[in-house]
Amino acid sequence: MNRRRFLANAGKGALALAAMPSMRALGANDRIRIGLIGAGDRGMQDLDDALKQPNIQCVAVADTYSRRRDLAKAKVPGIDTYDDPMRLLERNDIDAVINATPMHLHAKYFIAAIQANKDLYSEKTMTWNIPQAVACRKAAQASKQVIQIGVQHESSGGLADAREWIEAGYPGKVTMVESWISRNTPRGRGQWVRPVPDDCTLENVNWKLFLDGRPEPIFDANKYINWRLFWEFSGGNVTENMVHQNAWITSALTLELPIAAVMTGGVFSEKDGRQVPDTFNVTLEYPELIVVWQSTFSNSHFGLGQRFLGSNGTIENLDFRASSFYPEKANDPGVAAMQGANPGVNHMANWFECIRSRSKATNAPIEVGYRTAIAGHMANLSYRRKQRVTLEEAMAAPGSAWM
Ligand SMILES: NC(=O)c1ccc[n+]([C@@H]2O[C@H](COP(=O)([O-])OP(=O)(O)OC[C@H]3O[C@@H](n4cnc5c(N)ncnc54)[C@H](O)[C@@H]3O)[C@@H](O)[C@H]2O)c1
Repeated sequence: MNRRRFLANAGKGALALAAMPSMRALGANDRIRIGLIGAGDRGMQDLDDALKQPNIQCVAVADTYSRRRDLAKAKVPGIDTYDDPMRLLERNDIDAVINATPMHLHAKYFIAAIQANKDLYSEKTMTWNIPQAVACRKAAQASKQVIQIGVQHESSGGLADAREWIEAGYPGKVTMVESWISRNTPRGRGQWVRPVPDDCTLENVNWKLFLDGRPEPIFDANKYINWRLFWEFSGGNVTENMVHQNAWITSALTLELPIAAVMTGGVFSEKDGRQVPDTFNVTLEYPELIVVWQSTFSNSHFGLGQRFLGSNGTIENLDFRASSFYPEKANDPGVAAMQGANPGVNHMANWFECIRSRSKATNAPIEVGYRTAIAGHMANLSYRRKQRVTLEEAMAAPGSAWM
């Protein structure tokens, strides 16, 4: 979808919602009434997480698949359910919304939700392309709504450890970050592939709302359930997992946008008709620093991690647990290795706390969503074009450039 069409569509929703009364004023101890858009795997986890926090009530769920609406109702009896999220957003008794739809729909409901004066928890990656990231950021900056992007490791203790050491100057000048995710699945069962339930039929699914204008006239249950495998709806593991690590790295080192990106690889291990690559590496260039990230789906030995290689020492973080620091003896002989001990906070709880205090400074605010979306889309653009892509080239590319 090009930028003009996306903005026109988002605008239509906004027009319908423009007459909404503004959100009720919440006191510090008032109950926050939430709605969930997209009650799939992640949406239900987010809902569980939200309901564990004090004084939170879920009043409505929107999902285009009847099975998911039924499951949500079974979890929270008494809620209202809708297939069209715009109906949920029309309600003025909902304070805040969780958006856990497939990635290609994030921007549409992001903009509609904040224009309907709802505070917003929006799953990563914030948008499906760069023009949408620009539009969401503009809308967020113009709004008073409290936004948390679903990159939950921004609230982790390991990030707080790294920030403290960087602020104190321990690693010295960091010129290289190496980062990776390594996963595996039993032979014959591809990473991310989900079985398609028998009731996933045109009768039970609003296919048109899922497509949101994509030219797919024939219902395809596999695409509906396994949308992650296709460029039309997903950015592959760049937007599934690199986004988490890129957020962590850019926040720790206070990086802005990459100046260029290179990504190479292919579909080497998961020969199941998927379009997005399973084995690849990405190099993101920043001024005097490169961030390398690699992804594999056929070997899980080294798990997930990131290492900041500095002139005076190394910060290592494995699996988003506590971070470690190792001094470079050549430059800092007197410094001992350190183990981080910051506890971190619950990301959902941080959002609710900011809603109550009306602070826009959540742990993963719009800027984190914007930077990580753009870095990811630059990488995918490089992969699709088979060339290094600069920030200027990426910002000028049409929204459908990597489809
Ligand atoms: N933060 C994390 O760690 C994390 C983990 C997993 C997934 N996610 C993100 O959460 C999002 C959802 O992933 P998932 O695995 O739950 O996918 P999913 O397919 O299980 O769930 C998506 C849900 O959205 C519904 N849906 C589709 N079109 C819709 C529409 N127009 N309006 C309303 N509902 C619609 C589907 O019926 C489905 O129930 C993705 O963006 C994913 O990247 C984040």
